[in-house]
Formats: sequence, structure tokens, C-alpha cells
Amino acid sequence: MDATINPISEKILVQARKSIAGGANSSMRVLKYHLPTVIQKAEGVYIWDADGHKLIDMNMGYGPLIFGHRSPIIINAIENELKLRGTTLGFPHELSHQAAELIKKSFPSINKLRFSSTGTESVQTAIRLARQFTGRKHIVLFEGHYHGSSDSVFHAYHAPVDEIERRNYIPLPGTKGMGGAPYNAYVLPWNDAELLQSFLYNHSEEIAAVIMEPVMGNAGTIPPVPGFLEAARKLTTEIGALLVFDEIITGFRVARGGAQERYGVQSDITLLSKAMNGGVPTAAIGAREEVADLIAHREVFHGGVYSGNPMCIAATLAAQQEYEKNHTEIYTGLENASTNLALGIRKIFYDLEIPVSVQHVGAMLNFWFLTDYDEDGGFKNYREVYRGTNHDTFVKFQHILQQNGVYVHPNHYEPWFISTAHNEAVIGDVLDRIQVSAKTLKKKIQVPAQP
Ligand SMILES: Cc1ncc(COP(=O)(O)O)c(C=O)c1O
Repeated sequence: MDATINPISEKILVQARKSIAGGANSSMRVLKYHLPTVIQKAEGVYIWDADGHKLIDMNMGYGPLIFGHRSPIIINAIENELKLRGTTLGFPHELSHQAAELIKKSFPSINKLRFSSTGTESVQTAIRLARQFTGRKHIVLFEGHYHGSSDSVFHAYHAPVDEIERRNYIPLPGTKGMGGAPYNAYVLPWNDAELLQSFLYNHSEEIAAVIMEPVMGNAGTIPPVPGFLEAARKLTTEIGALLVFDEIITGFRVARGGAQERYGVQSDITLLSKAMNGGVPTAAIGAREEVADLIAHREVFHGGVYSGNPMCIAATLAAQQEYEKNHTEIYTGLENASTNLALGIRKIFYDLEIPVSVQHVGAMLNFWFLTDYDEDGGFKNYREVYRGTNHDTFVKFQHILQQNGVYVHPNHYEPWFISTAHNEAVIGDVLDRIQVSAKTLKKKIQVPAQP
């Protein structure tokens, strides 16, 4: 962390490290290459740091804040609920099924769902459901895909590619302390239907589930190649395994009905959070009836003190009502903002002769600095991004951009998240600041030679 740029933030973090391990409650907020950034205030697209800088936020809480910071849609719903039932109850209430009915309307593959508090616990429950439903143990994961930090799925999704290749599809643990987990799991390169087919045919008796982000969002934004989701659907059905779509990023973001609506392929189990709730700690496990009924019949346990608490579900319901009422306007606006941002970024770097690749799907976008001019971008999986891009250059650029008033996560695998508050004027402002930053960057880096 460069303490000279934000000295007040750094001072607060030094203090915080005395009582909070590492100074923040997620390691992703204090990576060693982060500029020290402590936030004091937030509104719409803006955040204000402790050093007095006003920043346009392109991270939006890692995705949930689809209506912007402190959106009245969410805040009013929470305020009203606090006056009625409070923060948490420990009893059923009627908001859950009202929210669930609207979610089902967007995701026809879901017959029943359960709310929980985090994506991690929802994924954990999904894997249990799949194992119990099929009577099998093994799951298929994909390189670069993240499904939370539970022992059942947390693999080193950003591991060096040479190391991944040596493992021959056996996952590397995502952190120390996992005692050898994830057990009974394989990790394949994504977007390769032929490989998936031969792998599933060779392991057809043992696979309970194939789980993926149907638009990859944890190695940067990577869309499915045509036919891949369809192949995954067909192959899992053929071998009697369940297809699990982790739409925690993509649900209500790449379309109201997520990747399932955008690409017309339905899963057996769907995980939702983030844009589903507009910024409160709530996630959902949705499934077709006979799978979800394993929970209803208490074969598979699902609980949680805060699961479906009225405060968070009131906010989730309000977000769902907003989608119901204004979905055409919301998704047209998000799509336009994303396209304009992508076109603008491409032009800025093209004019400066700095090779980059920009990929975007709906309201998520990434760009990477290419290692070579003849890298054509158009990345289809984690290995290609890992090999074809320069992370150090992105970090340099992020530091310059932040000092020019735009915050994006410094890890180039994290998507840029667009909200309904990112209107045309804001996107124009972001592009102006990217242009100024790109010119500064050019003076500081060795640009790859043109062919
Ligand atoms: C695709 C995906 N799945 C699961 C998770 C885990 O969610 P949580 O952090 O709420 O446990 C995340 C978090 O970023 C995610 O992006």
C-alpha cells in the first residue's frame, strides 16, 4: 500500500490493524497493491474517502449496488421495516414468499427457494442438495470461477496456470487450513464443450453436479462461447447430474432473468445474491421442486439465524418490485451504459496505441492490458487471460485512475459494475478520467511493440 497518497486512510488502517485482522473485514479490500482507501460517505455513484477525495465508484460493493449507493428504493424499504418488525425475528413472515414469487417470475427454472445470508452458504447447500439428489459425490468446477469460500468448492481459482496444468484437474485448495479440501471435486478449463463431454462421459457414474458462473465474472467478464451452456445442459441431463448456475453476479445484472434469460439455458439449481437484493446480505438457493423438496422434507439441512431476516428481505422485495415495475428501462439503460463505456475505453487505448482487450456482458465489464500486440483478446477462459494480460500494468493504471477520481478494483479479474445511477453524464465523466489516466500511464510503461 502506498501510504503517501492517502495518508489519513493509512493512519486509520494502522489503527484498525490493532483490533481487526489485516485492518478490514475482507482480504479483498486490503490487498498489498491497494491504495489505502477508507470510505466516509457514499451516495449514488459517488464515494468520499477519508482524505477528502470524491470518487466515482465502478466497483459498487462488488456488484450488489445496482441502484447505486444509498438508493431510496432500498433505504426506504429498510426504514419502513425497522418500524414494523425490526432487524431480525426468528419467525416466518410474509415478505419472504412475496419476494420469492417475483424472483421465480424472473427465473422460470426455480420452483422453490430458500433465502440465506451469503453466497458461500447458499453454494454449500446447493452442493449438498446435488449430492443427496443424485446419490453421487463428485462435483465439476471450472478454472477462474469462484463460488465462495466453503470447503466444498473453494479452490485456488487464480492459481498460476503451470501449476494448474500439473494438477491434472484436481483442485488446489483456495487457502491454507482446508485440510486437503475441496474433496471429491475436479476443476476443468471453462468454455470447452468437447473436453466437458469427454470428461463427463469418463466419469458419468460419479458426478453429482457441474457448477459454473454462466457468464464468468471472477476472471474478468467472459461470456459463454455459443453452444457451451447448451452442451453443459445436455451432458449433465444425459449422465444424470445436476447443472448448477451460480448467478450470484449475473442474476438481475446481465438480464432480469440472469444468464438463463440472456442465453436461453436453464439450470437445475440457481444461486442468487448481489443484484437480487440491491445491497443487503441476502442470497438464495433456488431449484426445481423435487430438488428443493429435499430441504422441505428435512433430508438436507438448511438454517441460519439471520436467514431471511425481515430487514434484508424487505430490501430484497423492494428491489424485486423495482425490477417488476421498470425492467425495460433498467436493462436498456444498463446495456447502453455498458456499451458506451466499452466503446469509449477501446477508442482511448487504440488512439494511444496501448493494446487492451475490453469484454462486457450487460452491466459487467472488464478490460485487460495485453502482453502482446498480436494477442487478440477475445478471451474464452482463465488460462487465456492469465497468459495474455499484464496485471502489473493494470495496477499501475488503477492507481493513476483512482488519483483522477474513479475507483475500480485494482485486481484486473474483478468486473467493473455499472448501476442505474451511472447515467450518460457519469459514463462520459468516467471516460474523460480514463483518457487523462491513460495518457499518464503511457509515459510510465513500456508499450508492447507493434507487429
Ligand atoms: C459468483 C460468486 N459466487 C459466490 C460468491 C460468494 O458470495 P459471498 O461472498 O456472499 O459468500 C461470490 C462473491 O463474490 C461470487 O462472485
